[in-house]
Amino acid sequence: MIILKSERDLEAMRPACAVASTVLNEVAAFIRPGVTTREVDEFAAARMKHHGARSAFHGYRKYPCYTCISVNDEVVHGLANSRQLRFGDIVSVDVGVFYHGYVGDNARTVAVGGCGVAAQRLMDITERALYEGIAQATPGNRVTDISRAIQTFVESNGYSVVREFVGHGVGRSVHEDPQVPNYVDAKCNQRLRPGMTIAIEPMVNAGQPGVKVLNDGWTVVTQDGSLSAHFEHTVLITEGEPEILTWPEQMPSRLKVS
Ligand code: MF3
Ligand code: CO
Repeated sequence: MIILKSERDLEAMRPACAVASTVLNEVAAFIRPGVTTREVDEFAAARMKHHGARSAFHGYRKYPCYTCISVNDEVVHGLANSRQLRFGDIVSVDVGVFYHGYVGDNARTVAVGGCGVAAQRLMDITERALYEGIAQATPGNRVTDISRAIQTFVESNGYSVVREFVGHGVGRSVHEDPQVPNYVDAKCNQRLRPGMTIAIEPMVNAGQPGVKVLNDGWTVVTQDGSLSAHFEHTVLITEGEPEILTWPEQMPSRLKVS
């Protein structure tokens, strides 16, 4: 069942998404060579608290961390640990927060200090794939239009999309209907309507699409060891253009940090 959001819902959900976006920006700025992924996760939790929010992931299906931090061939759901980030690594940071009862969910891949051209191109294509998908998030279109735009863009650039993990509706819960795959799946063809809020999140592998889960039960890595990138926004379907909710400028000024 797809839950449409009223203006009243959105009054609370917009700030939730703004906080998620602001925390993601803060975490991205914190990342540098030498810091451990646990320090990144703890920094994120502290920033959430500062903004009056809390992690939407911590405790979800017993997820043990506050954010997901996935390095290099790690695709998603990377667990924070004592690993030190090194110059040239690429790090996917996924930040989801609860704020006044609503969830904002967003992710981005960043280079640690800098990275090679192959890694940079993978990040660029993945981010652009997200915007190709968002452009299709208009009323009358279907979920498959988003999926097709992402898949076509990614594959025409020589990369592959992960099948096992997908985007999703988001609202009072992290995961609501509908599922939003990054590949065309005829079963996921719901019509998009104003008031739907969805997290669009391409996960793109430089090599083959296959992934596996590590023994920690969470960390997803590419089967072939190739690099992977991940970009995500929470998006509102409106009567007109899609509205990207996970954008820090939408944060009310009383919540802004100097
Ligand atoms: N943004 C990811 C998702 O939507 C993160 C989920 S991590 C989990 O699936 F712990 F909550 F599962
Ligand atoms: Co998500």
